[in-house]
Amino acid sequence: MTHRKAQFITLEGVEGAGKSTQKEALCRLLEANNIAYIETREPGGTPYAESIRELLLNHSDEAPCAKTELLLMFAARSQHLEHTILPALLKGLWVVCDRFTDATYAYQGGGRELPMDWIKTLETLVQGDYRPDLTLVFDVPVDIGLARAGRRGALDRIESEDIAFFERVRTTYQQIAARDTERVLMLEATADADHVTQAMYQMLSARWGLSCLPG
Ligand SMILES: Nc1ncnc2c1ncn2[C@@H]1O[C@H](COP(=O)(O)OP(=O)(O)OP(=O)(O)O)[C@@H](O)[C@H]1O
Ligand SMILES: [Mg+2]
Repeated sequence: MTHRKAQFITLEGVEGAGKSTQKEALCRLLEANNIAYIETREPGGTPYAESIRELLLNHSDEAPCAKTELLLMFAARSQHLEHTILPALLKGLWVVCDRFTDATYAYQGGGRELPMDWIKTLETLVQGDYRPDLTLVFDVPVDIGLARAGRRGALDRIESEDIAFFERVRTTYQQIAARDTERVLMLEATADADHVTQAMYQMLSARWGLSCLPG
């Protein structure tokens, strides 16, 4: 096998892009290649950070202002990195994470229009130079993603934003993918889920020499 160091992989995209669906498929691929991994998500990924997630996503009488939301995202991330992600990687486990810092650029930077340099500053504070080894961005038109996500039931606080918000989120993800082509791979995610999975498997096998699962 050619892939040696434990990899930190993040999945990104607007609501309903297929992150959770493709995360499961990615985990099946790792299992088929005898790679030990953990699955986690943001905001959250430790009990403490999951409590912050509830503060961030639940509807409540007092919504956080945009700066509070940004700071809580990084507070949760700091805890997650320290207590879940880095310890797993040190043990040699790959880490598959549903959303990470690119989501903060996309949602708090793009969606909420907070200055990107604030996010960069907090990213450096919490992560130093540390970045995911690979980020998969699932790109889908916002209306398609929201229609898929809407079928799942009640919308959380951030999912309840308007279309223009999610258009800015999508555009920011596209900009990140265009700028950081080494770390970020963008997958066209409008096709049916099996097609997207196969495209993802091709990319991952090319990158790490993994054996693909049959479609
Ligand atoms: N390529 C696809 N084509 C059609 N439906 C899909 C596709 N991928 C996922 N779905 C379905 O769309 C819904 C949303 O998918 P999924 O939960 O994977 O998205 P997500 O990106 O994780 O969303 P969220 O950001 O809300 O967590 C699910 O019901 C899923 O089965
Ligand atoms: Mg999901």
